[in-house]
Amino acid sequence: DKGNHRHFMAKEIYEQPETISHTLSHYVDMGAETVALREALPFDFADLRRLTISACGTAYLAGSVAKYWFERYARLPVDVDVASEFRYREPPLESGGLALFISQSGETADTLAALRYCAGQGQHVASLINVPESTIARESQVAFPTLCGPEIGVASTKALTAQLTALASLVVAAARARNTIDEAQERELVRALVELPRAVSAALGAEAQIERIAKRLSKAKDVLYLGRGAMFPIAMEGALKLKEISYIHAEGYAAGELKHGPIALVDETMPVIVVAPSDPLLEKTLSNMQEVAARGGKIILITDEEGAAKVGAGVAETIVLPTVPSFVAPILATIPVQLLAYHTAVFMGTDVDQPRNLAKSVTVE
Ligand code: F6R
Repeated sequence: DKGNHRHFMAKEIYEQPETISHTLSHYVDMGAETVALREALPFDFADLRRLTISACGTAYLAGSVAKYWFERYARLPVDVDVASEFRYREPPLESGGLALFISQSGETADTLAALRYCAGQGQHVASLINVPESTIARESQVAFPTLCGPEIGVASTKALTAQLTALASLVVAAARARNTIDEAQERELVRALVELPRAVSAALGAEAQIERIAKRLSKAKDVLYLGRGAMFPIAMEGALKLKEISYIHAEGYAAGELKHGPIALVDETMPVIVVAPSDPLLEKTLSNMQEVAARGGKIILITDEEGAAKVGAGVAETIVLPTVPSFVAPILATIPVQLLAYHTAVFMGTDVDQPRNLAKSVTVE
């Protein structure tokens, strides 16, 4: 049932304040403002030397955001790779490491093969799954849930924000266990998560502006998405979502890579979407934006109130998100890139919920 929405994808985008809350309620003790994991862990975060994350598509991008978080807050080294590369690379793994597999369906063939490889290499095997009875969940020593309900739209939306919410919770748990944050910092991070659903609701309010931008985007042949730090995977996600449902070619790049190649593409006809809320990396991204503007590129900036105040001329459009702690900013920034892809696809008249050539669950490699 799509409710009042035209597509399941729209319904699922709009469900996110609730699905994030629901996921969070599994991981967080709201009263104590702590993360309280319900699952028995077959490993101790304090003893881990490395975390290896494998997944595909959007789930891989969730893992890519988590790499920034685990390294920053828990000082835990993370390798993250797409499962189809990881499994055939057969990387050496120190026994006793933790391998984490992220999958909405829990049936993705390459992710499952990566899991079996890691189990054979003496890794602790954990997964983050939306379908609890799935193969990946069953073959894991511990299966952490995303509680976003069934996702019908082929393009993943609410599953991604639920994955990020659960991953953020695991990061806090790991950081506490490893003593890289103290109790006060834990409360601060948990509060940022608890306040996130309200910010997500506010971010959904930019829809009318985004629809207007999408109308212009639907005329583009190529679109570039840029981000730094944990916003880099969100830029990749924006590009992935746009190409899969609107069929417009899009690429996500680390903003610092711009001058190492992709800037050659920039001209008056190419929209450049920059995902850059206010954080210590914003200044760097602003100078990349100047390079784009100098070549006539049309910049669509996704930032927050603080970031918008720092931006000068040369930006065609600014989508302003509520200012949130930088820990949860990548989750919030997911909302406008989803809406942008969705409305562009609606303008293009594509089959938004069932894009051509794509399947919801990729059980063959
Ligand atoms: C993109 C998308 C896909 C999936 C990927 C993994 O919108 O939906 O990239 O994220 O096929 O699927 P799961 O999470 O089921 O393993």
